[in-house]
Amino acid sequence: MFAGVLFISGAVLLSTASVSLAYGEHSQRLAANLLVLQGDLRKLLETDTSDIHRHSLSLRIEERLGLLALLVRSANEQNSARNTHNPEEFRQLLFLFGSSEFKPLLSKLESLSRKYPLVLSPILQSTFSPVFFKKAEEMHLRLCSGCHSGAMAGNALPAFDLFKQSRSISRLEFAARMLTGLRGDQLTSLQNPLTDTELSVLISYYRNEVNELSK
Ligand code: HEC
Repeated sequence: MFAGVLFISGAVLLSTASVSLAYGEHSQRLAANLLVLQGDLRKLLETDTSDIHRHSLSLRIEERLGLLALLVRSANEQNSARNTHNPEEFRQLLFLFGSSEFKPLLSKLESLSRKYPLVLSPILQSTFSPVFFKKAEEMHLRLCSGCHSGAMAGNALPAFDLFKQSRSISRLEFAARMLTGLRGDQLTSLQNPLTDTELSVLISYYRNEVNELSK
């Protein structure tokens, strides 16, 4: 009986769901992770990346590649298996990384991104004007700047200057990093603690604010 009720309410939910619900959070997490992986791999391929950064990138890439199979499975379940995946494909990705075959790995990830594109909500796609930057600055100073002022950029797990980082990559990749990377301390657990509006205001602020914080 209970299961029956759950099933019916699930069916109603699905039939009335907006696109963003059907194309749910798991898909977004998978798509964001795929973009971050590509960005990290490109960084690893750049010759001016420091050894310590290279090392932390490798660890992060390996960890994320390990997670992909799980993320794809959840995304497929949420999308009623619109896409199918073969676990062997993901073992192959890890194998390519382990053999330092970075370019073939990059092109495999690019084709996965075409299959699982990052679809941002209209709010997350919007660019907010400077009238919102006061609010963003307040959030940044209260929640982020302690770790992300750049002083920790040389650490094994670097917390970058978000003003610089957001301007050195595409807006989409930075949005992907904001969606996947916000877990700096206890307040964040696994879920991203900020709303789409807060994230979007912060993205505009980091990419467009002109002040001494960004120097
Ligand atoms: C307690 C320290 C700390 C706080 C507070 C913190 N971060 Fe971070 N953050 C880190 C560290 C360390 C990393 C890098 C390691 C990692 O990716 O887990 C990171 C990673 C990130 C990334 C991913 C960067 C990438 O290269 O993919 C983003 C984006 C980010 N933080 C944004 C924020 C924002 C925005 C806030 C405030 C709302 C914040 N962080 C608060 C320490 C922190």
